[in-house]
Amino acid sequence: MSLVQTQYDRALLSLAGGVSSSTRLNKAINRPMLIDRAEGCRVWDLDGKEYIDLCCSHGATLLGHGDARVQAAVEKALSRGAPCSYENETHAELAALLCETVPCLERVRFTGSGTEATGHCIRLARACTGRTKLLRFEGNFHGYHDQVMFMSAGEIGLVNGPLKPISTGVTPGMDQHLIQIPYNRPGVLEEIFARHAHEMAAAILEPIWFNAGCILPTMEFITTLRRLTEKHGVILLFDEVLSAFRMCPGGAQEYLLITPDLCTLGKAVGGGYPLSVFGGRKDLMDRLMPIGDCQHSGTYNGHPVVVAAGLAAVKAYRSPGFYEHIHAVAARLFPGLQAIFDRHGIKARVQGLGARFGVYFGLNEKITSYDQAQQHDRGQMLRFIAAAIANGVYFHDYGGAACHHGFCGAMSEGDAEEALIRLDLAVSALASRT
Ligand SMILES: Cc1ncc(COP(=O)(O)O)c(C=O)c1O
Repeated sequence: MSLVQTQYDRALLSLAGGVSSSTRLNKAINRPMLIDRAEGCRVWDLDGKEYIDLCCSHGATLLGHGDARVQAAVEKALSRGAPCSYENETHAELAALLCETVPCLERVRFTGSGTEATGHCIRLARACTGRTKLLRFEGNFHGYHDQVMFMSAGEIGLVNGPLKPISTGVTPGMDQHLIQIPYNRPGVLEEIFARHAHEMAAAILEPIWFNAGCILPTMEFITTLRRLTEKHGVILLFDEVLSAFRMCPGGAQEYLLITPDLCTLGKAVGGGYPLSVFGGRKDLMDRLMPIGDCQHSGTYNGHPVVVAAGLAAVKAYRSPGFYEHIHAVAARLFPGLQAIFDRHGIKARVQGLGARFGVYFGLNEKITSYDQAQQHDRGQMLRFIAAAIANGVYFHDYGGAACHHGFCGAMSEGDAEEALIRLDLAVSALASRT
C-alpha cells in the first residue's frame, strides 16, 4: 500500500481538500506531492521515490533544498531562542544588503508572503498619491488578496473591459478600483494614461512574466510604462515575487535596466523560508508608520529565523559564480528539452530566462502575449507532467493555462543531463500515446 496515498487519504479527513494551499494539488496526478525529505535538486516522497525537482517549491528554493549556508543560519537563529516580534542585528544587515543589491531599494520592510507584500505596496501607493485606482495587466498574478484577484469577464485582450473575480467571496466592488489592459501593448498605455492617469495610484506588473511561463516585456512597452508613470506621478510597482534573483542578483529591474518606484520580492528571497520583502524609494517608504501614517505591521514580520535564512540566501546569490552556473545549466536544460520535444514530434516551445522557464504545448512560435499563452494545450501539458512524474522528474501544475517551472543552483550540469534522460523517456511515452 502506498504511504503517499494512505497519508493523503488521511489528510482528506481533516485538512480541507487534503492540502494547506489550494494550488498544491497537482491536477496531472490528482493529488499533492507528499515529500519525506529533500536535498539539493532532489526530493523523495513518502514512498521513497526520488524525483529531480523542476518545481523548486514554486520558485522559493532557488539555492536548492537544505542548502548548508541557509541551514547553518537557521540553526544559529534557533540557538538564540528565535525571539519573535523583536529586532536584532540581522534585520539591518539584510535590509542593507538588499538595498545594495536591488536597484530601486532605498528602504525595505519584511513581511510573510508575496500576497502580503503586494497588498502593502498597493496601500502605500494609495497613501502616497491620494489616488485609488490600480493599473494592472491582464493575466499577471499578484497573489490572493481581494484587490487583485480578477480576470476579464469577457474576451481576452480588452482595454479596461469588465472584470470578474477569480474566486467566490471576493469583496464586491473591488474591480471598480482596477484598470486592466493587455501586456506588451505600448500603444494602449498611451491611451489609458491620457484618460486615467489622474486617478491612478500605481501600475503593478510582473516585469518578467513568469506566471505565464516566461514572457519578456518588449523594451518599447517597459520604457513607455516607465516614462508615463514618471510623467504622471503614478507609482511604478514591479511585482518581483517570482522574478527576484532569478537571472541576476538585482532581478528583473537590473536585467531590464528599468528602475521602478516600489517593488516586491518573495519566494527566493527567503531561501525556502517564509520571507517576503517590499520596498523602494525612501520618500515613499517613509510614509509607513512609525515615521508616516500608513500601516504595515504583523506579529511574525521579520521573524528572526526567516530573516537569518534570507540573509544567508541573498549572500549566496551574490557569491561569485552563482549566476554563471545558473546560466550554464539553463543553456543545457532549455535547448535540451526543446530538442527532446522536436525529436519526438511533440509540438511545444520551451522559453526561459535564468532559472525559470515555461513550456507551451501546441505552439512553436515565440510567446509574447497572454492571448498566445492562453492558446497553449493544457491537456497535453497535464499528460506531459504526469509522464515526467512517472519517470522521476517533478513539474508542478498550478491550475492555470501556462505554468512556470524552474531549477535550482544546486543542480549540476550532470543533474540537468540526468533530468533530460528521464524526460526523453517521458516524452517518448507521451508521443506514443498522442
Ligand atoms: C508575481 C507573484 N506575486 C505574488 C505572488 C503571491 O505570493 P505568495 O504565494 O507568497 O503569497 C506570487 C506567487 O506565486 C507571484 O508569483
